[in-house]
Amino acid sequence: MAHVYVLNGPNLNRLGTREPDIYGSTTFDELAADCVATAVGLGLTATVLQTNDESELIGWLHRAQDEGAAVVLNPAAFTHYSYALRDACAMITSPLVEVHLSNPAAREEFRHTSVISAVASGTIAGFGVDSYRLGLRAVAALLAG
Ligand code: DQA
Repeated sequence: MAHVYVLNGPNLNRLGTREPDIYGSTTFDELAADCVATAVGLGLTATVLQTNDESELIGWLHRAQDEGAAVVLNPAAFTHYSYALRDACAMITSPLVEVHLSNPAAREEFRHTSVISAVASGTIAGFGVDSYRLGLRAVAALLAG
């Protein structure tokens, strides 16, 4: 069974109470459980992780590459400026789908740039928790060829 890492960047551990008008009221633990269940329904196994630390996130991407695992990545604010994260994503040879709960293109100017999108298989943004479900579906479709 193919494995997918669902990786989450800074401040996403605060989901549920963090700007709920933008990010919704689902907690991170609820989101993680939803991703695991969605993955199982797609015939995948999933590990869901969150960190506020750029270095840790890069380490997880290295691990995904070493294991040949796919990735669903919400880089959070790192999306907009982390070339180190981008370079780690560029090394991934399995599907890597960038996801966002909100639609950064409809928000502040600084969110309009993603340094990740060009090295992702694709990007899904603006659908709340559904962005992750759709991201996992995209991974399953890409793996199925
Ligand atoms: C986000 C959008 C980013 O601009 C922001 O910094 C986040 C969350 C999203 O899921 O909508 O932390 O990635």
